[in-house]
Amino acid sequence: MSMRAYQLEGFDSAPRIVDVPRPTPGTGEVLVQVRTSSVNPLDANIAAGRARRYKEYVFPAILGSDFCGVVAETGPGVTELSVGDRVFGLVHGNTVHTGSFAEFLAVPQDQLTVVPAAVDDLTAGALGLAGVTAAACLDAVRVGDGDTLLVVGGSGGVGSFATRFAAAQGVRVIATARPGHEENHVLRLGAAETVDWSAQDVALTVRGKHPDGVTAVIDLIDRDPAAFTPLVVGTLAPGGRAASTLRAADSQALGGIPAVNVRPKVDPKVLRRLAELAEHSLRDSPVTAVYDFDRIGEAFAALAAGSVGKLALRIST
Ligand SMILES: NC(=O)c1ccc[n+]([C@@H]2O[C@H](COP(=O)([O-])OP(=O)(O)OC[C@H]3O[C@@H](n4cnc5c(N)ncnc54)[C@H](OP(=O)(O)O)[C@@H]3O)[C@@H](O)[C@H]2O)c1
Repeated sequence: MSMRAYQLEGFDSAPRIVDVPRPTPGTGEVLVQVRTSSVNPLDANIAAGRARRYKEYVFPAILGSDFCGVVAETGPGVTELSVGDRVFGLVHGNTVHTGSFAEFLAVPQDQLTVVPAAVDDLTAGALGLAGVTAAACLDAVRVGDGDTLLVVGGSGGVGSFATRFAAAQGVRVIATARPGHEENHVLRLGAAETVDWSAQDVALTVRGKHPDGVTAVIDLIDRDPAAFTPLVVGTLAPGGRAASTLRAADSQALGGIPAVNVRPKVDPKVLRRLAELAEHSLRDSPVTAVYDFDRIGEAFAALAAGSVGKLALRIST
């Protein structure tokens, strides 16, 4: 039996939707009929071949990280999932070969978990990479009720989940966002304040409104310690903590301020916890646009042009 998949055949070609054989689940694997997915900056880097510095490509390679779907078959050794279960997860690893931009996906059982009933398919399909990363950032900065958190890059995928999860825990979130669509989006997700990163100096603006500093900073934008360090030093209260998703936290430059370069781990425990966070906070979904599978190229173009929240893909019904 065949299926449609978004496949990259080599570094000298662009990915396209082709018919390929439907995979068979191996030992410890689950065959998922993929309903929804989403596009991440990582997927764009992989599709353009830019990830070859840190991932091994085995061609032909089906692209895609995030997925939500229904268990269609279980391989030998799978005991905790059954045909018909609604699941979400994240294809990850050092090799680019099997991905979620396909009608079916054979995936190790430790890369997925059951979707809570309260979370819809589009939200669950957008949750994988950005949700796991947002949860890891929040763990790194250890915020709780009554804390103040600055999220730089708050309007994007990871920032939307971080904002929503933190706000649901009683954290006062300051999210960067341009006026209009971006600002409305982060306010809808529970941000208490916004900073227009395109027109204001973020650190100065935040310090102006919070003279004692904020409890925590999550920076999803700065790649250089030369930008991350002054942002953190300029905004963080004594005893506060910071996190970077782009390896910009340099402990020497920060002179003792606790800051973590977040590298999210994916295992069943992490996914189950993410499912719980989603169940309690994602009635307001970060998904802002939905593309049918045939329009996946448009989803990538929209991501590259600048997007708000998560761009979801509808793979099959
Ligand atoms: N360490 C890891 O494992 C890991 C995991 C996931 C993601 N990441 C990285 O984390 C970053 C965020 O990921 P994402 O999925 O959230 O990306 P995204 O969805 O593209 O979001 C980025 C957001 O930041 C906004 N933005 C652009 N320049 C900004 C600036 N100077 N200040 C404040 N906001 C700005 C963008 O607005 P416009 O679109 O309007 O420009 C967009 O809304 C990416 O670089 C990604 O590669 C790392």
